[in-house]
Amino acid sequence: MPLYDPADLASLATLAGSVAKDVGTRIRAMRAEGVEVANTKSSLVDVVTAADREAERLVAEALRAARPQDGLLGEEGLSAPSESGITWVVDPIDGTVNYLYDLPAYAVSIAATVEDGQPGTMADGRRAIAGAVYVPAVDELFTGFKGGGSRLNGLDLRVSEARDLALALVATGFGYTSKRRTEQAEVVRQLIPRVRDIRRMGAAAVDLCNLAAGRLDAYYERGLAPWDYAVGALIAREAGAVTLGLADDTLPGEPMLVAGPPALAHDLRAEIQRAYATLPRG
Ligand code: IPD
Ligand code: CA
Repeated sequence: MPLYDPADLASLATLAGSVAKDVGTRIRAMRAEGVEVANTKSSLVDVVTAADREAERLVAEALRAARPQDGLLGEEGLSAPSESGITWVVDPIDGTVNYLYDLPAYAVSIAATVEDGQPGTMADGRRAIAGAVYVPAVDELFTGFKGGGSRLNGLDLRVSEARDLALALVATGFGYTSKRRTEQAEVVRQLIPRVRDIRRMGAAAVDLCNLAAGRLDAYYERGLAPWDYAVGALIAREAGAVTLGLADDTLPGEPMLVAGPPALAHDLRAEIQRAYATLPRG
């Protein structure tokens, strides 16, 4: 298959969009019937609901039916090797805690990724080439593919024109362990006097799509898993953002994603590096 033919990439994005919308509509209906915590993961506050598992099962079923040779990787344990070179990276519900509390910022996030020896855009060496994020509570479908721009319900997206970090609305997120959160809170403490304001909405994929739509000026978070940002970061890039890691080794082993219009993203990264450099090592 000619992997990077725009028509193929567009059809991968269309498939991701239709699966995300179907499954998102289903989990929205499940939410209306009530939701309970089914299990916890990395900490007591890192929860999984029956809807996360059912959504992952439904996404896998739909993708397998449409493209049986593709690999699958999902947050709730989904894993299948790829025979086609493409692996779908799935967050069945990004923003599970919002889902639990019936807050609207939760989404189904589906990315087609490749590992082709070219420089990766993801921390694990993969590159996202197409995909979709569906936010069922507000019926917003974000789609994008490499070189093809990104869209919200069919309309082209563009990042904000903000250049001045002091006037930037910056979103971020926090991990689930108290050690990680303590460190992240310290970075926010140092950053907040230097920006317009900080938002913590609770779903990385939604943050990145809102960045693409110009509803936020920049975004950063440390320690994201591939399913949290695979397609959101692509959608943001296709709307004009750059997505950066930390250039040096101040945070060994833990990916950092900084995203925004180019000048702003570089300034924000410099501030984050400065703040992390003040933290105790270990
Ligand atoms: C989480 C959300 C949150 C981010 C966390 C993620 P989940 O994903 O994206 O905004 O701050 O780092 O783990 O657990 O809701 O799929
Ligand atoms: Ca999730």
